[in-house]
Formats: sequence, structure tokens, C-alpha cells
Amino acid sequence: MTDPAEPILSSAAADPAIEPGGGDFDAVLTGLKSAGEPTRLRLLVLCGQSELTVSDLTQILGQSQPRVSRHLKLLTDAGLLERYREGTFALFRLAAGGPAARAVRAAMAELSGDDPLLRRDRERLAAIKQERAQRAARYFEANAERWDHLRTLHVAESAVERAMAALVAREPAEALLDIGTGTGRSLQVLAPLVGRAVGVDLSRQMLAVARANLERAGLADCQVRHGDLYHLPFPDAAFDLAVVHQVLHFLEDPLDALREAARVLRPGGRLVIADLAPHDLLSLRRDHAHRWLGLPLDALERWLGEAGLVPEERRLLPGNPPGEPLTVLLALARKPAVPGRGGFAKPDRGG
Ligand SMILES: C[S@@+](CC[C@H](N)C(=O)[O-])C[C@H]1O[C@@H](n2cnc3c(N)ncnc32)[C@H](O)[C@@H]1O
Repeated sequence: MTDPAEPILSSAAADPAIEPGGGDFDAVLTGLKSAGEPTRLRLLVLCGQSELTVSDLTQILGQSQPRVSRHLKLLTDAGLLERYREGTFALFRLAAGGPAARAVRAAMAELSGDDPLLRRDRERLAAIKQERAQRAARYFEANAERWDHLRTLHVAESAVERAMAALVAREPAEALLDIGTGTGRSLQVLAPLVGRAVGVDLSRQMLAVARANLERAGLADCQVRHGDLYHLPFPDAAFDLAVVHQVLHFLEDPLDALREAARVLRPGGRLVIADLAPHDLLSLRRDHAHRWLGLPLDALERWLGEAGLVPEERRLLPGNPPGEPLTVLLALARKPAVPGRGGFAKPDRGG
């Protein structure tokens, strides 16, 4: 006798007239088949932790580049990885949506953090990130004295500063935090518009220059503090306004930085981001420690959403002189006044 509780799939498979296939079924099947190989599973886990280039992945896995590229193509074709270009590089990350990616994410959630191979991959990834972060830190220590000159090389800073000040002045703010304050230039521009202003930076050399600049500008009330933007030395909801000016493109983990910025903002507080729009000046990576060739716009929206911030506005300001390949991106995002109201506020989604 047939058991009425018998699973549908087995009876379908037993019936040659019913062929499984199409839609999600095919997508999930292809996704699971593609993930079902040791190197590919490791690649998926790594790309779930960070956005990585082929050469990062080759270095971590210790396998040849053609081999790693073949696996990456297969995973991308299966809808498990997303690939996007940054200058001449391709970056890979775990796909956010789609039936295949969801199925594989669920399977990956079952992986133990203790697996020796995955642990080694994680350690190698951490070492790569740390080496890059140290390179950037050395760059800032070495260039603190000439930073005020360097920062104006490609970008019409005065136009950016005017636009940023106009954005800030739209709403009153009691407490401003300048994240990665460097030589304190944003503090000088914005402090007169707010009640009190604090800057934080990891580079003691930069902070020394910032203190001297603020004193010279008669802004001795502005504080600068030594601290890591991934672990800001402030309690939750301490600021109405945070500014992060030309910092995110140096960071290994902009999302973690935005999460931390969101933490110190009060509900309803604003975050102003000024950074480079995507470009392909490889020399900025090679000579000036840039991690990102401009902020990928789609990634920025996603990072903001994941950090619990709602993007409100985005403007592009041309480079300096006109024709210079760099464009500045000025973005405004807000921490929702009602907790949990994160996500995008895209006018074109009709939401
Ligand atoms: C390109 S400079 C920008 C400085 C300033 N905002 C400006 O626009 O002139 C980037 C700054 O971020 C700082 N920075 C980088 N990583 C940091 C971290 N993890 N925590 C705090 N500051 C960091 C650097 O020391 C440097 O001063």
C-alpha cells in the first residue's frame, strides 16, 4: 500500500511523466552541485567574509590563478557569487539573493567555525587584510605633514567643503563626530555649524597636525582623540551627526566602519559621506594606499542598508581641474528614528 505521507519528490521521481525541473528547482540544483566541491565551498565561505580579488583568493588557497578563476566563473554562473569590476580588477562576493544563493547560504550556516581548513583560510584572509591596513597606516604616518597638500591634488576641495557645509547646516546638530579626521580639515569647516565637534583618528602623526591646525584656526574647543573607527571610543547614540570624509576608500571593511558610525549616532542622526566615486586610477592604489578605486555605488547602498542607515541623498561633484578623472561622491544617510526601520529609501521603488 502507498503511504500517503510519502514525500512528493520521490513519487514525482518515480513517475516518468513528471519531470522535475525549471525555475527554482533548477537554480537550487545547479547551485548545490556547484558548491559541492571542496575548493568551491572554501571560495564561497571566503567571499561571504569579504569582497576579494582573484589574486587575494589565489594567495589564500595556494592554488594556481587559472584554476581559481575557473572555479569562480562556475560559481558566478551558478548565481552563487556576484562579480563586479573595480578598475582593472574583478571583485567577488557571495550573492545576496536568488534561490541558489539562499540554499547555499543555509548550507554554509551549518559549517563549524572550527574546521581546520576554513580556520586556516580565515587566518590567511585576516593576514592579507592586516598587511593592507598596516600599509595604509604607514602611508598616513609618513604623509601627515603634507596631507593638506595631497588632499587637494585631484579634487576641488573648496567645492566639496561648501557642499558638505550646506548639507550639515540644513538641520541643527549639537554634537558632530569627524571619523578619520586626519589633519582636522572637516572639523575646521564644520565646527562653526554645530554645538561641539570631535575628531577621531588612528594616526598620532595626523592628530598632531590636526591639533596644531585647530589651534591656529582658533578652534581650540574642537577635540581630537586617538581611536580606531572600527571601535569608536564613544557610547551609543552620542552624536547627532557624523562625517566621514575621504576615509572609506582606504578601509578593508567599510561596512564595519559604517556599522560603528551608526552605533554612535542617535536615532534620527545623520551620516555625511564624502569620498571618491568609482574611477580607474590604479596609481592611487599603488602609490597612495587606496583599497577601493572609488566607492562602488551599489556596494555603498548595500553597506548603508546593512549598517541600519537609510540613504537619503547622493550627489557627484566633478574633479579638479575639470576633466580630472576623479569625481567626489557626497552622500547623506540617516539612522532611522524608529529602531529597526533600516533599509533603502529609494524613491524609484515606490515604497
Ligand atoms: C585620507 S585621510 C582623510 C583625512 C580627513 N578626513 C580629510 O579628508 O582630510 C584618511 C584618514 O583616516 C585615518 N584612518 C584610517 N584607518 C583608520 C582607523 N581604523 N581608525 C581611525 N582612523 C583611521 C587615517 O589615519 C587618515 O588620517
